[in-house]
Amino acid sequence: MSRLLLFLAGILGLLALSWGVLVGMPWLQLGALSPAAPEPLSAMALEGSRVYGAENCAACHTRQIAPGDRAALAREWGRRATVPGDFRTARPEMPGLLRIGPDLSDVGHRLSALALAQRLYASPAGSAMPPYRFLFEPQSNGAPGGEIVPTPRGAALIAYLLTLEQGPLPAAASPEPATP
Ligand code: HEC
Repeated sequence: MSRLLLFLAGILGLLALSWGVLVGMPWLQLGALSPAAPEPLSAMALEGSRVYGAENCAACHTRQIAPGDRAALAREWGRRATVPGDFRTARPEMPGLLRIGPDLSDVGHRLSALALAQRLYASPAGSAMPPYRFLFEPQSNGAPGGEIVPTPRGAALIAYLLTLEQGPLPAAASPEPATP
């Protein structure tokens, strides 16, 4: 009987230990690293995040800059490493796996609405990124010289991309200097 109790206690102890290592320690190390109160997404930006997911932009774009990723900082894709708090308003998080295109963590800070629209409408020569022309429509039935405006989905995506900005961290908690 006492062996059984010892066995059960051992299992519980192991569970507690792994919880501590996998959940408790990361929380202690990273939990406080939250950018100052990120604003909740507007309804339009939230819709845009769904477009971002549906068009699978995350297949080619990451939104995570690892601590020590000096190459990303040198290219000014971000101003600092990504922290868990950066995803507080994201539903769901789409950090991406492969970086075929630039990291988009701070793209709303780097590019204007117009630059984003132009980039989505047409690809530079030789670019691996397909044009997303179906997110736009000509306003004047295709007459030459007519204005081209984003569709509601396109406008929502651009509104969402503009919210992708790295807020400042509390100074003491910064995982690395802002410039490499
Ligand atoms: C097949 C891969 C691929 C997909 C899918 C893709 N992109 Fe890209 N994207 C790239 C590449 C490569 C570049 C860099 C070269 C260029 O500008 O074309 C890029 C560049 C960009 C830029 C300019 C970034 C900068 O720093 O100048 C933005 C913004 C962007 N993509 C947004 C998106 C969005 C939004 C989607 C989804 C609708 C998307 N991309 C889907 C590959 C991709």
